[in-house]
Amino acid sequence: MKIILFGPPGSGKGTQTQRLIQAYKLPKIVTGDILRAKAKTDPQLQALLGSGDLVPDEMICEMVCERLSKPDCRRGYILDGFPRTVKQAEYLREYGVEVDIMFVLKVSDRELLKRLGGRQIHEASGRVYNIHSCPPKEPGKDDETGEPLITRKDDTEKAIKHRLEVYHRATEPVVNFYQTSSIPVVIVDGEQTPGKLFSEIQALLEKN
Ligand code: AP5
Ligand code: MG
Repeated sequence: MKIILFGPPGSGKGTQTQRLIQAYKLPKIVTGDILRAKAKTDPQLQALLGSGDLVPDEMICEMVCERLSKPDCRRGYILDGFPRTVKQAEYLREYGVEVDIMFVLKVSDRELLKRLGGRQIHEASGRVYNIHSCPPKEPGKDDETGEPLITRKDDTEKAIKHRLEVYHRATEPVVNFYQTSSIPVVIVDGEQTPGKLFSEIQALLEKN
């Protein structure tokens, strides 16, 4: 099962990816997480991510395709955050990668702004919380490990607004790219609860 989870910043890609990897035991390829790990020793990359701009296509495409060629991806994978430009989608196709399905999570900008303002993350696992809608059992601590939660550097009001602008300009056209291909594109309501959305995704996966 090769799945693209697609959607604007804060639409719930990471939240649904965590559920999918648990249910289907598939590897996740989360380009944002890979880049944030790299940025720890690369101040230039850290500044770019903090601003909400995209990294250059060449940098990310090679990295992802190398990862997809690893043996654990033979059974399938979840792509979260890639492709994010039409160029990246073209690269994936030229590289011979055919995914089975693409889910597009639809959420209004207003709701996205609200969600990202309250997000907290457990960095090591990728578990995602929200101080309003999905708080941890103990404030500031991961439910499973008790380790501290962090706030992402690009979750400032300025960076969030820029990320949304970049999404609408450079990323949204990827939906049309796949809609005119043979890959099924399913647009789902990302404003329902995470549990309901996950049930819908599971049902659609079983149907396809
Ligand atoms: P990335 O890490 O991918 O960030 P993003 O696309 O901005 O998306 P987010 O991770 O912010 O949101 P999400 O959809 O995962 O939502 P989440 O589940 O956390 O990329 C970061 C940066 O890396 C980019 O800006 C770029 O610089 C670079 N980059 C990455 N990939 C790249 C690429 N391919 N090319 C170039 N550059 C790239 O949920 C958000 C919040 O909402 C949480 O608090 C959660 O609890 C809550 N929530 C989730 N679902 C629901 C729900 N159904 N109802 C209510 N609340 C919910
Ligand atoms: Mg994410």
